[in-house]
Order: sequence, then structure tokens, then C-alpha cells
Amino acid sequence: MDVDRCAFDVLQLNMPLVESIRETIRAQGPQSFAWFMQQALYHSEHGYYSSGRCAIGRKGDYFTNVSVGPLFGQLLAAQFCEIWERLGKLNDFVIVEQGAHDGQFALDVLEFVQNRLPEFFEALRYRIFEPFPILEQQQRRRLEAFGDKVKWPDSPELFTGVHVSNELLDAMPVRLISNGTEKLVGLDGNKFVFVERQVDKAVLNQSALDWMDEIAANLQRGYVIAIDYGCTDEDFRRTVQVRAQHRNLDSPFEQIGHADITMSVDWRSIVERAQANGLCVAGFTDQHHFLTGIISQFDRGGSPEPPAGDWGQLSLPDSRKAKRELQTLLHPEMLGRAFQVLGLTKNIDPGAQPLLGFKFGRALRSSAES
Ligand SMILES: C[S@@+](CC[C@H](N)C(=O)[O-])C[C@H]1O[C@@H](n2cnc3c(N)ncnc32)[C@H](O)[C@@H]1O
Repeated sequence: MDVDRCAFDVLQLNMPLVESIRETIRAQGPQSFAWFMQQALYHSEHGYYSSGRCAIGRKGDYFTNVSVGPLFGQLLAAQFCEIWERLGKLNDFVIVEQGAHDGQFALDVLEFVQNRLPEFFEALRYRIFEPFPILEQQQRRRLEAFGDKVKWPDSPELFTGVHVSNELLDAMPVRLISNGTEKLVGLDGNKFVFVERQVDKAVLNQSALDWMDEIAANLQRGYVIAIDYGCTDEDFRRTVQVRAQHRNLDSPFEQIGHADITMSVDWRSIVERAQANGLCVAGFTDQHHFLTGIISQFDRGGSPEPPAGDWGQLSLPDSRKAKRELQTLLHPEMLGRAFQVLGLTKNIDPGAQPLLGFKFGRALRSSAES
């Protein structure tokens, strides 16, 4: 095994975490980057997310759609309402959110639905699938006013409705493999270094594929909406991003446990796994087109004819703040192009009209089809 020449200084140290990673490498040899990422972000006590240390927004490490303001959740709420109508306005319509962080997105959705879409609110159940107790506590505090409407199941449950995630997939552990060479995390003295080894065919994003299997096993009928940044082009060079206090760091070995580590999502492999599980693609588009499709339904005057339902009578929030949020979410040089939205269906008529968010969408074909 060759030790990669570029070794990195460990700048800001989370000593217990760094020591526990070193111990494993000393005892068992170099480890996959997926294992390292799992430790840095999700170590049971000291991980960046699992310790509750991660902060999102202006005073935190990075922005997300959710941290821009409530408009993002409000627009998604309108999309969920259309899905509820499509499923026949059923009682016990479930929204499952994963990667809910501090519960802000759930709050934005629920407040909007409660105030503006009371019939939908009656039918709605909100479920958060949260593996980290400290985040669950934050979510429970934030969503206390909604009582039993929101629940935190101990394990995934069967549901009919929609599964939603924003920037969940990019935070899932990945292996670093390119042209048959895998980068492992090793040690040179006390310094973390990349060590290369040859590998045969290997899966890079096993966690994301397992996630897809789990949703497919539990969703009885409805939609999956995954929002994230990623690529569909096999030649696209996927790089690890490390962020702390709104700065991109040079190496994942800087500020271990204090920095976010993400990798752009390989949408093609997610779609292939979904299709292998019997799901269909409902649409794929960038965030700009997705949100524009939803917005186009507001202020229509509210024709009672399906599929419009009754929320077309709503007007778009038009405060100066909401307009600024809209610009940030839509603008191609801000978040509009950076993010994509994948929609999947299970047990939905394949001839159904595209959802509002996908009415301006483009097709995403799996490599099997291309
Ligand atoms: C980049 S943050 C996004 C948070 C939030 N969705 C937003 O947009 O502001 C990623 C979140 O996914 C969570 N996460 C990672 N893996 C998870 C999993 N397997 N199940 C549930 N949440 C997970 C992390 O704890 C973190 O809160």
C-alpha cells in the first residue's frame, strides 16, 4: 500500500473523537472514507451531527433551503397538499421527514397547513425518523404545540403519503473510489493521511442505497421527494466538501467533528435502486423549476375542479422578507440551480399528470435505459 504524499495537519481537534478514530486505525489498519465520515458526523457521542454540535444558518456552518426562511416549507406544504388530493384526500395522510435536524422544516410546513389548509391539516400525520436523541429533543421542543400530530417512531413504519428529505443524502457516508483505486484513511504517525488500494467493482454509496430499500419497503402508496445537490453524469468529478463557519476547508481531516462533510449525490444510482424496488420516477428537475411549478398554482382563483383542489385560492406570501427568500431559493446563481429534486412514486397510476413541481421538469433516465 502506498501512503499518499499529502498528509494534512489536524487543525481544530475534538480529541476524544480523533483519538477513537486513531485507535481503530492503529488496531485494524486503514479504514474506508465511509467509515471515517460515519465517525466524524455520527459517532454516538462526539460526531458533528449526533452530538448536536452542528449549527445551520447565518450563525452556523452553512445555509440550507430551510435556513433561508419559512417560504421553502410553505411551498413544499402546497406540494404535499396536491399529493394528498391526488391520493383521494385520505385520512391519515402521512408525511415522513428524515434529516429533520432541529425541526424547523416540520414547523414551517405544519404552521402553514394549520393556518391556510385546515382540511388537509385534519387528515395530516407528521412522522420524523430521527436516529439522534439530542436532535429529537430539539424537534420535540420546537413542535410541542402540535401534540400528537407529530410522532417519532422507534423504527420505520408502513405509511401512505410522502417521504421528504432536504440535504439528507449528501450527508450519508461514501467510499472514495475512482478508476479502480480506493482512498482509505490511514495514519502517518499521528497525522491522518489517504492511503490507496486497488479495488474491484465496489459500491460507493451503500448507505444511500440502503435508505432507498427501507423507504420502498415501508411506503405503501405515495411519493418520495428528495432534494439535494448532485449529478446525473457518470463523468462528473464528485468531490468531498468540508464546511465550517461558512468556509470550505481543504481537507476532511481539518476540524474533525466540528465540520460538515458532504458528497454530491449520484442520482442515477438512487433511481436505479428505486426502480429495482418497484418505484417509478415521478420527475427530476432543478429547484428553480420545481418551485416555479408549485408557485404557478397559487393565486389562480381556486377552481374546484381536480386536480387543482382548493389551495389555488391561496396567495403567495408577499412580504419583503418572503420575496427575498424566494429570490434566494429560485435564483440560478443562488440555490435555484445548485439543488435538484427527485420525485418517486409507488402504486400511483403511471399515466397520472406530473405533480406541480415537475410540470416544467426534465426526464432522468437510468443508465440501464440510456
Ligand atoms: C445537511 S443536514 C440537513 C438538515 C435539514 N434537512 C435542513 O435542510 O436544514 C443533514 C441532516 O441529516 C441528518 N441525518 C443523517 N443521516 C440520517 C439518517 N440516517 N436518518 C435521519 N437523519 C439523518 C443529520 O443528522 C442532519 O440533521
